[in-house]
Amino acid sequence: MTVESSVELLPIPSPPASKFGVEIRGLDLANLSDEDFKIIERALYEHHVVLFKNQQSLSPYHQYALNHRFSPTSTVYGHDNNTKKTASILHPDLKPLPNQPQVQLIGNGLVPFYEGLTNAQLRHPHHRTFHKIAVPDSEDLDVTRFYRWHIDAALYGADMQPPKVTTLMAVKVPTGRRQTLRYDDGTGDALDVSLGTTAFVSGEKSYEILSEEQKFFARTTRVEYAPHPYIWMSKAKSLPTGLGLFSDGLELPVADLPPVDEADVQIHPMCWKNPVTGKLALQIHPSAVRKLHLQDGTVIDDIAEVREQVYSLLRPGIAPEYVYAHDWEEGDMVLFHNRGVLHTVCGAFAADEVRMFRQCNLADRETPVGPDA
Ligand SMILES: [Fe+2]
Repeated sequence: MTVESSVELLPIPSPPASKFGVEIRGLDLANLSDEDFKIIERALYEHHVVLFKNQQSLSPYHQYALNHRFSPTSTVYGHDNNTKKTASILHPDLKPLPNQPQVQLIGNGLVPFYEGLTNAQLRHPHHRTFHKIAVPDSEDLDVTRFYRWHIDAALYGADMQPPKVTTLMAVKVPTGRRQTLRYDDGTGDALDVSLGTTAFVSGEKSYEILSEEQKFFARTTRVEYAPHPYIWMSKAKSLPTGLGLFSDGLELPVADLPPVDEADVQIHPMCWKNPVTGKLALQIHPSAVRKLHLQDGTVIDDIAEVREQVYSLLRPGIAPEYVYAHDWEEGDMVLFHNRGVLHTVCGAFAADEVRMFRQCNLADRETPVGPDA
């Protein structure tokens, strides 16, 4: 008798030019042996998106426990401090479960009761609240955008390093509609997506398709993030691709932020090394970047120039042929390699369309590893 013999790894539909994602069958997420966990861990670092179907009965505790297994010294939610501040742009979208506060209820519509929450009013992020120019109202139910490409990470606080994994479970999913996702950046790029899809791109693919000159720049440059980035950017507006912000001078000055401790400012390599395969992933949170530190000691601190550089590096990797847009079904549990993918919410829901997801990630103590390590 072997436990491994009942475990299957199956491909999931990959985007045409980027191979990632796997479904695992035959594991009980509430009763994982060390060997079971190793299968999941390896799959996560090799495939970046790992899907388990029919997980409706998995408790919030067991969801948290799965995250905790990846980061055994971590117990706090990945955005802990920032999301408690009402000025953070993340604050309205996250409802911590009272009995398992590292697990957040997110989605859309009114939820009368769920896991200790009562009358939770959920709000699916709509691009009109973040993008400078929105899709016209007349097209709203048919056309959507990438809301905001990101890494799940506080990006401020010495002990709030980017989570290694995010778990996302679909509890309730409105179905029946698909939407056209438009890039609206003059390229004509578009995707046909299911309502409320989560879109992923592989940071390794984004790195792989760069020119040699860009790869060198990416390998040797470090990215400084704004202090309290989600408050700092709270008045700024996004590009239509969700891949960074317009530079209209709307970022909050330091004087208007909570106190800033320079020791808490995060500066990361632009490329993060996969702990299993050793491959490099281009991992930049394009909306939170503040400065670039070049190999020769030059610091680019002109925010418009910083964003231009970052956009030119990241835009090739979000072309339609590289995007995996997950078609959610109720009970789907997706684990994604948060240090190896960028992801974004998509979709526009009607007010009465109820969507419920449980999301968990844990702030890590270990910093992401760069190319030189
Ligand atoms: Fe996220």
